Amino acid sequence: MSSQIEIQRIEKSKIASVDFNNLPFGSVYSDHMLECNFKNGAWQTPVIKPFSPISLDPSSKIFHYGQSIFEGMKAYKDAENNTLLFRPLDNWKRLNKSAERLMIPQIPEEIFMEGLKALLKVDNDWIPTNEGSSLYIRPFMFATGSGFHASPANEYKFIIATAPSGAYFAGKVKVLIEEKYARAANGGVGYAKAGGNYAAQFYPTQLAMDKGYNQVIWTDDNTHQFIEEAGAMNIFIRINDTLITSPTSDRILDGITRKSILQIAEDAGIQTEVRKISVGEVVEAAKNGNLKEMFGAGTAAVISPIAGFGYQENDYELPVLENSFAAQLKKKITDIQTNKVADPYGWRI
Ligand code: COI
Repeated sequence: MSSQIEIQRIEKSKIASVDFNNLPFGSVYSDHMLECNFKNGAWQTPVIKPFSPISLDPSSKIFHYGQSIFEGMKAYKDAENNTLLFRPLDNWKRLNKSAERLMIPQIPEEIFMEGLKALLKVDNDWIPTNEGSSLYIRPFMFATGSGFHASPANEYKFIIATAPSGAYFAGKVKVLIEEKYARAANGGVGYAKAGGNYAAQFYPTQLAMDKGYNQVIWTDDNTHQFIEEAGAMNIFIRINDTLITSPTSDRILDGITRKSILQIAEDAGIQTEVRKISVGEVVEAAKNGNLKEMFGAGTAAVISPIAGFGYQENDYELPVLENSFAAQLKKKITDIQTNKVADPYGWRI
């Protein structure tokens, strides 16, 4: 497959204009991207080309019916300058799970994996080496086929774009437990990384921001009594010394960071529970001092500690802990990702 990837190199790299010591998240892009088109029922030859705008027909179905899915991944450099990926096949599998739900054609493993590796070779100098930074990788697929008829398109694009990135969140994160809006419903697309899932979060999140919070904690659409996710991440809640996260379902994303954290925590002797967790239990624990930590977990932010939450006009602060589970687990997972420690799981490649 690698011999079948066409490579069109940029004339002049933009890399000298980038301050790698002050990287924002996801808004400075590497020189190249990988692009592969689906037409006449088949994926065409992937092309690595300069990162540049794409031209689409105004009737492309992405604009009207939202057939669009994505993944989030990261590449790191270790001390020997090796390029490292973390569980990339899990991202490929999840992209295809999302594709199935959105009626987008499956992307073959070779195009995803060989295309990604070839892109990282071409843009190798864009992978940050400083602590806390990485190359954020955004594979995505969307409908380019045209027509106002509300039916799946017959043409698609698969793109991998990358962005050297620093931290996703800066500062304290205060969240509001949502009581009215829902992120997902049974039978819906909550488990998929569909672009529309994120678009639908912006309005309730803005309402929460207007009240002084940074993010929303999603509750179940039916009763709003159970905690589901944190903003665009999975959520972990520590009550006393037990770390709890909600089970994945139609509504909850099967997060790669989530399942890695669960495994690492269990192996570190932390008691974990994957179960429904009610808002009442969290509020009660906050009131009686048993709520020790809450944190979001996802590729972009890795682990994002929550400093406090709001619920029904009341605010609850979380304690500041010396050796929090969040800090311990973040260190353990990033040490594996960046090859500072052995990887007993075979996740790093
Ligand atoms: C990620 O953590 O990579 C995500 O997909 C969340 C994204 C909205 C930044």
